[in-house]
Amino acid sequence: MQVRKGCITLRISQQTLNEIKFRNSIEDVVSGYVQLKRSASNLVGLCPFHSEKTPSFTVFPADGSFYCFGCGAGGDVIAFVRRAESLDYPSAVEFLARRAGISIVTDESDKEMYARRSSVLKMNLEAARFFNSCLFDPKYGKEAMEYLCVKRGLSTSLIKHFGLGFAPDNYGMLTRHMSSLGYKDYELSSAFLCGISKKNGAPYDYFRNRIIFPIIDPSGQVVAFGGRVMDDSLPKYLNTSDTPAFRKSRTLFALNYAKDSCAEQMILCEGYMDVIALHGAGFSNAVATLGTAITKEHARLMKRYTKSVVICYDSDDAGQKAADKAFGVLGEVGLEARILKVTSAKDPDEYIKKFGRDGFSRLLKNTESEFQFRLGKILSKYDIANTDQRLKALDEAIGVIAGVQSAAAREIYSRIVSEKFSVSAENIAKDAEKRFAMSERQKNAIEKERLLLSATGISDRVNADYVKNPRAASSEEKIIGILLLHPEYIEQMEKKGIAFSSDDFFTSFSKKIVALMLSFEGRPFDISSLGTELSVEETDRLTKLKMDREKLTDNSLQLLTEIYGKMVEDVRRSEMTADEIIKKKREKRKSDRHR
Ligand code: UTP
Ligand code: MN
Repeated sequence: MQVRKGCITLRISQQTLNEIKFRNSIEDVVSGYVQLKRSASNLVGLCPFHSEKTPSFTVFPADGSFYCFGCGAGGDVIAFVRRAESLDYPSAVEFLARRAGISIVTDESDKEMYARRSSVLKMNLEAARFFNSCLFDPKYGKEAMEYLCVKRGLSTSLIKHFGLGFAPDNYGMLTRHMSSLGYKDYELSSAFLCGISKKNGAPYDYFRNRIIFPIIDPSGQVVAFGGRVMDDSLPKYLNTSDTPAFRKSRTLFALNYAKDSCAEQMILCEGYMDVIALHGAGFSNAVATLGTAITKEHARLMKRYTKSVVICYDSDDAGQKAADKAFGVLGEVGLEARILKVTSAKDPDEYIKKFGRDGFSRLLKNTESEFQFRLGKILSKYDIANTDQRLKALDEAIGVIAGVQSAAAREIYSRIVSEKFSVSAENIAKDAEKRFAMSERQKNAIEKERLLLSATGISDRVNADYVKNPRAASSEEKIIGILLLHPEYIEQMEKKGIAFSSDDFFTSFSKKIVALMLSFEGRPFDISSLGTELSVEETDRLTKLKMDREKLTDNSLQLLTEIYGKMVEDVRRSEMTADEIIKKKREKRKSDRHR
């Protein structure tokens, strides 16, 4: 049997993996995200990965897996966390390990990955200490301290609370300090603490003459830094780029503090200084994205900690545009969202300085819903007294109503719009329902087209070669399904003298999966242990293949041998080009439709 070596770059020891899975039962983990109801021996709920009204998301406690019959997402508890938290495989395992209080024991290759991560974290911690001591050392930090205390009005305790620091106006101070602790230039540059000069290869400090804001993750690790100039020079803020320990698009500033007081409500701001001012005034449930617009990953992260988000962006146009986007993203992950309008100040930081804690509390009591926010924007954009503009405004308002999923809410909103425009609520509701139905039809049509395409294999992203040789590919997937049910067949085939090789397979997907299976060299594997090397979509597919086979009665070694033989033949015979096949498929689809 040919064995592919070296295709597994990361493997957490099977024992640890089993322990992690054992202590994180799938029903337990999933119910943190989905309300599950019992259905026979399984549990069902609304799929968190696509929007649906009737539950097709199923959890199978017996074998610790899940599968959504609607969107095809599936896998084990690790696959679930990868999707739900947008994590890569090692981070998902880490997440579950932490959840169960297990420390991770890993194989050699695996250790390397964790080593890189933890080395960045260690360097960051040292750097944070260095920046902090510079700020508190008058020799370097006098001006910075003045800026923070006098110009920005921060108390010393608040500065300490956030571990703020100062990077001196010097090209080598941090690098020298870190070298003295034994860190190499290339390590420092991998953490974005220094750059390497293109001219002479010498390292230079990345942050210079800037106030430093350490970014700390919920587990208390310093994952990155933001650095602000003290004058009007540009760029105003410099941030750490992505490192093995940091992804900007899924990190929130101050979540390490906010996580303990945000269960009911979280305040989402634009900037570091807004968050610091809010915490200083007692609103310790405030967080900020790091200069990027809010992503779906941010929203999912928030959903882990809170039920409802108050968007609290700058009062300028950019802030209001960003709020528009935030409503969309937060709604998509099912978070309740409202908006707080900062008036008579450019941002929450300035507002707190002007009106204090009580002023901000008043704003918090007067937040607006997404509907109110959108309607307000329309009303301020148009002059309702003018008939033409009034019609345009009404049209947009009806569009907003039509975008709401709940029928009862649409009814209520129709009444509100009716009052504003002095048009009967019945007519508004009628128009809104028409438009709602139309967009639902469109959505369904798109979904249908997608399903059709995937059924014919034309847009099969996971197994892209499927269409080039559907017969062989279909046999291959059967083989993979059977092997997932019976990993022991690989050895048994070998004993029968059948040299099982990934080279015999046609699609690169099958080649990859089979090579992975073979690399286990007689040790048992399952979707989880293969998962280290797979994308979430690939894990979905494997789950589906396994489930498809499970439903069938014959999954014998003999059947496997037969399918294998047929497949090998199909692969050899295949001479058709992909284009020819796609053309044929298209023609068939057309003729099917005309029937
Ligand atoms: P702001 O310009 O509103 O900054 O940018 P701010 O936080 O209110 O800071 P002050 O009050 O002027 O000191 C909002 C956020 O956008 C990111 C930072 O995270 C900042 O907090 N940003 C801004 C950058 O990353 N780079 C920039 O050059 C500017
Ligand atoms: Mn500001």
